[in-house]
Amino acid sequence: MTTSKTISFHLNGKPITIEVGNHINAVELLNQFQLKGARESCAQGLCGACTILVDELAVSGCLTPAVMLDGKSVKTVESLSGINEKLHPIQEAFIDQGAFQCGFCTPGFVMMTKHLLDLIPNPSDEEIRDFFAGNLCRCGTYPEIIAAVHQAAQSLSHSS
Ligand code: FES
Ligand code: FES
Repeated sequence: MTTSKTISFHLNGKPITIEVGNHINAVELLNQFQLKGARESCAQGLCGACTILVDELAVSGCLTPAVMLDGKSVKTVESLSGINEKLHPIQEAFIDQGAFQCGFCTPGFVMMTKHLLDLIPNPSDEEIRDFFAGNLCRCGTYPEIIAAVHQAAQSLSHSS
């Protein structure tokens, strides 16, 4: 028997109240709002393509039951460009450094970068690699991703 629960949370800054089935995960819920940045790929917490921020912490949306978002602040990659739709410095850095090919993994890496730079404003290469241990890029753009994180760190330090 499928059960459901009414939850209230903030999605990219907007208050939402919705009834969700106990069986759906956060990515499936986001799809209902036409938010496609977080992608379900492995569905096992192994690839990072579904990374979202819940109360500013990066989590795997595929492993997060939607009902657990009750009372939380949820942010997806779509939240980064802001109200004037200007790209976030992290997104600009990924473009400048050519840190993607097919782009499938990119929203996950961008959100993980946001979490990383919130914690460590100027990370070393080793800290970046450690932090991204759960994010996979099948196109192998890891060197460019690391360069993008450094560029974003520089940009954000100048803007604060
Ligand atoms: S789809 Fe969630 S970690 Fe791979
Ligand atoms: S850019 Fe293709 S999987 Fe990362």
